[in-house]
Amino acid sequence: MKFSISTTKVTETKSSCLILPVFEEGQLNKALKLIDAANGRVISDFIKNGDIKGKIGQCRILPVQNKTYKRIVLVGCGKYEEYSESRYKKAITSALKKLTSTNHKSATSFLATGHKSNKKVDYRSARIMAEVWHQISYEYTATNSKKTRRFALNKLFLGTNGRKSNLEMKKGLNHGNAIGLATKKVRYLGDLPANVCTPSFLVKEARKIASKNSTVTLKVVNEPQMKKLKMGALLSVTAGSVEPSRLIILNHKGGKSNEKPIVIVGKGVTFDSGGISLKPGHKMDEMKFDMCGGAAAIGILQAIADLGLPINVISIIPACENLPSGNATKPGDIVTSMSGQTIEVLNTDAEGRLILADALTYCQRFKPKLIIDMATLTGACIVALGHHLSGLMSNSDDLANKLLAAGEAAGDGTWRLPLGKKYMDQLKSNFADVGNISGGGGGAGTVTAACFLQKFVNGVEWAHLDIAGVAWLEGSKKGATGRPVALMSEFLIQEANKS
Ligand code: BES
Ligand code: MN
Ligand code: ZN
Repeated sequence: MKFSISTTKVTETKSSCLILPVFEEGQLNKALKLIDAANGRVISDFIKNGDIKGKIGQCRILPVQNKTYKRIVLVGCGKYEEYSESRYKKAITSALKKLTSTNHKSATSFLATGHKSNKKVDYRSARIMAEVWHQISYEYTATNSKKTRRFALNKLFLGTNGRKSNLEMKKGLNHGNAIGLATKKVRYLGDLPANVCTPSFLVKEARKIASKNSTVTLKVVNEPQMKKLKMGALLSVTAGSVEPSRLIILNHKGGKSNEKPIVIVGKGVTFDSGGISLKPGHKMDEMKFDMCGGAAAIGILQAIADLGLPINVISIIPACENLPSGNATKPGDIVTSMSGQTIEVLNTDAEGRLILADALTYCQRFKPKLIIDMATLTGACIVALGHHLSGLMSNSDDLANKLLAAGEAAGDGTWRLPLGKKYMDQLKSNFADVGNISGGGGGAGTVTAACFLQKFVNGVEWAHLDIAGVAWLEGSKKGATGRPVALMSEFLIQEANKS
């Protein structure tokens, strides 16, 4: 898809389809008035007869006789006065969805014209258009024998109706495109089955990013090297699997060389059977999605590198399988983590925190400015927050507030949960420095998992995103969502704006 800005007057638009807003009280905005007049008042007639009522997302395609454009796509946008970003997003989503089922090759959207434009609206409407396109055009076909239905649409313009284009619009299209492509990549990696998307497959994906971008380098730690580094926690999880595990380190050096990096850690369990603490069979297939945090760490770095953001960001992905076998770690086994802390593995299904523990310790060598980890860590997070919001836990109010705001702005929300000594104490073990789960019950499974991670962050400013409920959808729409790429990209763009 090629995204660009079209600055011609609406009546002279040269793409096949015009996308125009219709409002509930029947007002015609400037662009619509001109088009209406140029087409024998067909639109006012349509509105008068109630063929379209302006309900948000309602969509009608009108064929017109015209030299430059062939179709008018009318989209309901609600009440004229109540312009909002979410309304714009709904409207453009519905228009673009409609167009994917047609053979039209190009379209120009005027959904953002007519309202008081300012830099922010210009930027956001351009960005959202590009992001939405990628959102709706994602199709998983990698393992189907019948391949892609290809969309005819390949040119999408942001129409300005004669206004000059500006940097904000261009930046918006760029950002939206990079975030959209990264989200698609994460969904694709998540959707791939675990017999394809293995730790070494993730390495290949990471390598592509490093070879495409001069700012990015890749380092891969293999199992013998993990042994040397004394990563006993990570190795204990992969012990039952024949598929070799990897620690993937993608480094984007976009900022000053002396500037401390933001480190992003993503859980990359490419299949979580639970290990010896085997999960029940129902929906176990969904545990192929247990690498979605790791995929997000790869995708986010790709977006950051594509945009050349002037910050230093490192993505670290501990990737492995969690399977039972004669070599597998057993409940009650005690392992020594890279940090030196010993861990009693009370439940081998609490594996995410074990691999993250060593990844968090490994992080320290980069002297991070801050660490954010993303993990499909606990079923308890789905109990607490369902499938709407990620769980956010942090040792820093400042970082937590920034992430809450970024999530809100990106439509990829989070909700903060507490940390603290009382929860930390639930992890006490009689035989090791810490248990990997709360031995005595006590609930708060999402919080105690975060408390476990906190033991390995070494006091660095840190936030943990539990994405168990949001990384994929279940049921007939089963598939990865690409979350929290939008939230994290928003956060990193904000960070880059400061520097
Ligand atoms: N990957 C799972 C968490 C999960 C479960 C995410 C279901 C999404 C849906 C994680 O490794 C896990 O198994 N966690 C256990 C922890 C428990 C043993 C303390 C859980 O949530 O049951
Ligand atoms: Mn598990
Ligand atoms: Zn898991």
